[in-house]
Amino acid sequence: MQEDVIEREIEDMLGLREHREKDSELYKIANEVFDRTTRETLAYLHRRGKIGALYGVISTGKEANVFAGVDGGGRRIAVKVYRTYTTEFRRMWEYLASDPRVGYLPKDMRKLVFVWARREFKNLQRAMKYAVPVPEPEVFRNNVLVMEFIGDDSPAPRLKDAERELEERDFEELYSTLMSVIERLWKRGEMVHGDLSEYNVLLHEGPVVIDWSQATVKRNRMSLELLKRDIRNVANYFARKGVRTDDPDEKFRELAGI
Ligand SMILES: Nc1ncnc2c1ncn2[C@@H]1O[C@H](COP(=O)(O)OP(=O)(O)O)[C@@H](O)[C@H]1O
Ligand SMILES: [Mg+2]
Repeated sequence: MQEDVIEREIEDMLGLREHREKDSELYKIANEVFDRTTRETLAYLHRRGKIGALYGVISTGKEANVFAGVDGGGRRIAVKVYRTYTTEFRRMWEYLASDPRVGYLPKDMRKLVFVWARREFKNLQRAMKYAVPVPEPEVFRNNVLVMEFIGDDSPAPRLKDAERELEERDFEELYSTLMSVIERLWKRGEMVHGDLSEYNVLLHEGPVVIDWSQATVKRNRMSLELLKRDIRNVANYFARKGVRTDDPDEKFRELAGI
């Protein structure tokens, strides 16, 4: 795609022709953080109607930025844009190398990030199949993942941010829902999230589990370690909130069958 075409698509996507101020955080990221591949990918998705407009920045992280927007039909979406340069390269490489679903691993960091984003998309699809509440994945391309927006006017809060408003009963219910998510994923879906915590659960009606990039399948040699970690994180968090939780080691042995 020609540079001027990309430029036009991006401007249109950010609504710069109309009302967006040029000093907005979104504008800065789009122009100072996004590299050429990312801009081209976003321009492509815009052209195809997969991203109609981006409105604002939901989150800026080490690995990815997440934006709020709408698709071509006006449906609300969240767009996760992975950084093509990341200090997390080694960790990503190790995680991907142990995943039996992933074949050839590119040496090039940018291409490795594409594999990482694609895996998150596949994980979301797989988790959905086992009735785990997740943002519905829409499309991915290169380092960009488009999914259902979780929230109303504003994005749904993370469990960590909403915890002050919750009562004992809510914690108990959330604990049992999340523990059954871990169980169902493992037993029926033969997979594990791997980073399940109060930071990766959004509260929207019930809990919605996000951030599936490190999730993997049972056959992965790291899967038991990840399962143990998820059980511990969840049990320890809710124990601190006063819930009578399972003993994490016992629960782990029960699920792992050892
Ligand atoms: N589908 C979504 N709808 C609304 N907000 C989201 C969605 N996905 C992610 N977010 C927000 O973006 C933040 C970062 O997303 P996440 O996937 O956890 O990436 P990371 O933690 O790797 O930066 C989340 O904590 C959440 O606040
Ligand atoms: Mg996260």
